[in-house]
Amino acid sequence: MKEKIFIEGGKRLSGSIPISGAKNSCLTLMPLSLLTERALTLKNVPTLSDVETMKALLESLGCVVKYKKSEKILNLKMSAKPLFLADYEIVKKMRASILVLGPLLARFGQAMVALPGGCAIGARPVNLHLMALEALGARFSIENGYVKGKVAGSLKGCKIKFPFESVGATANTIMAAVVAKGTTELVNAAKEPEIIDLCTCLKSMGCHIEGDGEHTIVIEGVDSLKETVHNVVMDRIELGTYMIAGAITDGDIKLTGGNVALLENFIEKLYEIGIKIDQCKDYLRVKRVKSSSVKSTNIITEPFPGFPTDLQAQMMALLSIANGVSKIEEQIFENRFMHVPELIRMGANIEIEGRTAIISGVNELRGAPVKATDLRASVSLVLAGLVANGHTIIDKIHHIDRGYEDIIQKLKSCGAAIKRI
Ligand code: EPZ
Repeated sequence: MKEKIFIEGGKRLSGSIPISGAKNSCLTLMPLSLLTERALTLKNVPTLSDVETMKALLESLGCVVKYKKSEKILNLKMSAKPLFLADYEIVKKMRASILVLGPLLARFGQAMVALPGGCAIGARPVNLHLMALEALGARFSIENGYVKGKVAGSLKGCKIKFPFESVGATANTIMAAVVAKGTTELVNAAKEPEIIDLCTCLKSMGCHIEGDGEHTIVIEGVDSLKETVHNVVMDRIELGTYMIAGAITDGDIKLTGGNVALLENFIEKLYEIGIKIDQCKDYLRVKRVKSSSVKSTNIITEPFPGFPTDLQAQMMALLSIANGVSKIEEQIFENRFMHVPELIRMGANIEIEGRTAIISGVNELRGAPVKATDLRASVSLVLAGLVANGHTIIDKIHHIDRGYEDIIQKLKSCGAAIKRI
């Protein structure tokens, strides 16, 4: 696959972009196939390398996984001969691999999952995953970089209080608690739409779950799960990314399949800086209120329903050309400013003080050779390249293929001068 993207900036986007199914929902739903011998069918599954990686991991655990790309349907069915080793070679490519730990322990009482290790945006520990699964009765040892888990008998429901919201730890614990004996109460659970999507799918598999999307989730364990067909929720981070693409180019684009309810805080922020999002019949329309300018603002990233950390880098690209000084405080991850030095290479005026970036808007960005470091940083460089004066070449673009289905085609269809080279 060609590793670079070439963009000639300055084109105003106009046209329509379809929003795909949510990567982070797929990565949480796919491990459900480990919990049952019945078939799990997922629809609206995007073609992404992260989905491919999770498919490979599940196949290595004895699951039969078939992806019909043209129909965006994923069929998963656990074979009778499960394996319990999630190998480092796969896990190191994608931290979400840790999400097989809960289901393996819950169904088979054993698991050996490579510790995901850190990534560009932070250390990404899994202590909350282990704390919660231990409370349900699992016992862990760390051996040669692997988490080795065992359950004597079966998992037992209990009350678990998270010190702060963790999407992954909430998901892992839900996937274990649904087949544990008795009642589990998750206090300070993550409220992200992807957690609600996971619980919606589990309810259709016969699970008893209440309070998903709220502070406390209550789960009654069941003996087994039924087969189901589940439609993956749309990707709110992809949606927000293309909203910014329309805004940053002073364009006028329609986003089909979008749902404003999943991005309320983000859309309020866009309106505050002069970007209007109209919910029309079956699409969202993005336009600047006044073609002239984008206003500055201050942002703090928070767990849902706060401003999403996964849209922080993209918003920073937009605020780089706003009138005035903006501040972005990244509260979720300790190192999620890797896009800053690259945006500065394109003429942005950004200073970092601890976990806060201070962005002084400039009149224009200039095209430059830059490099991608992580998924959301890479797409913020694409956004900057769309508005920059001149040519931008972004290297290490495999990051973007992890989370943005057909991004070149989607942007090209709205008039962007963008191609892989
Ligand atoms: C999920 O990651 C998403 N990934 C991330 O999206 C997203 O940024 C993040 O949630 C926050 O919304 C998937 O869903 C596959 P967390 P996750 O546990 O579950 C700390 C993207 O770009 N923490 O909510 O790993 C952690 O280090 C990706 O699509 C612990 O300390 O995030 C972080 O600082 C990036 N101990 C904070 O909590 C733990 O055991 C929130 O992390 C777990 C997490």
